[in-house]
Amino acid sequence: MAMSEEQMTRRRWLDMFVKMAAGVTAVALSVPTFVMLIVPAFRREKAPWIRVGHISEFRPNEPKAVTLSYQRRDGWVIRTARTTVYVVVTGDGKVKVLSNICTHANCAVRWERSKQAFFCPCHDGYFAIDGSVKSGPPTRPLDEFPHKIEGGEIFVRLQT
Ligand code: FES
Repeated sequence: MAMSEEQMTRRRWLDMFVKMAAGVTAVALSVPTFVMLIVPAFRREKAPWIRVGHISEFRPNEPKAVTLSYQRRDGWVIRTARTTVYVVVTGDGKVKVLSNICTHANCAVRWERSKQAFFCPCHDGYFAIDGSVKSGPPTRPLDEFPHKIEGGEIFVRLQT
């Protein structure tokens, strides 16, 4: 049985309406899903303050290595990372939190009490107690991390 022209038009309109409704629904569902999956990969969260220790644990002019364990977000993944820093309290009570990574080629430095310097064994680099270069191939000082002291507790922010 043949359809009238009016039935054809109604059927086409209905067909078009159903397809448009399906399209709108698909977009409405996919946009939030897409945003939920993609946004975390680009989100840059401010690094948290990590407790290093109470100021009374550190003696003046005796840098002390502290290994910190903290949660680090990497896109969708949250990992536990570890970093070693040196806490330096100067004679006048000022605090510095220095990286233990040599700025020449990323070897780990260690405090040499007898030489009163940070020593890098890879290429015999030396850094002063404030992190500045004393001798050897490094051309810039040890990196310093931002820190704060609250109620005698030292906190450091590792990512800038
Ligand atoms: S890596 Fe430290 S002096 Fe070369």
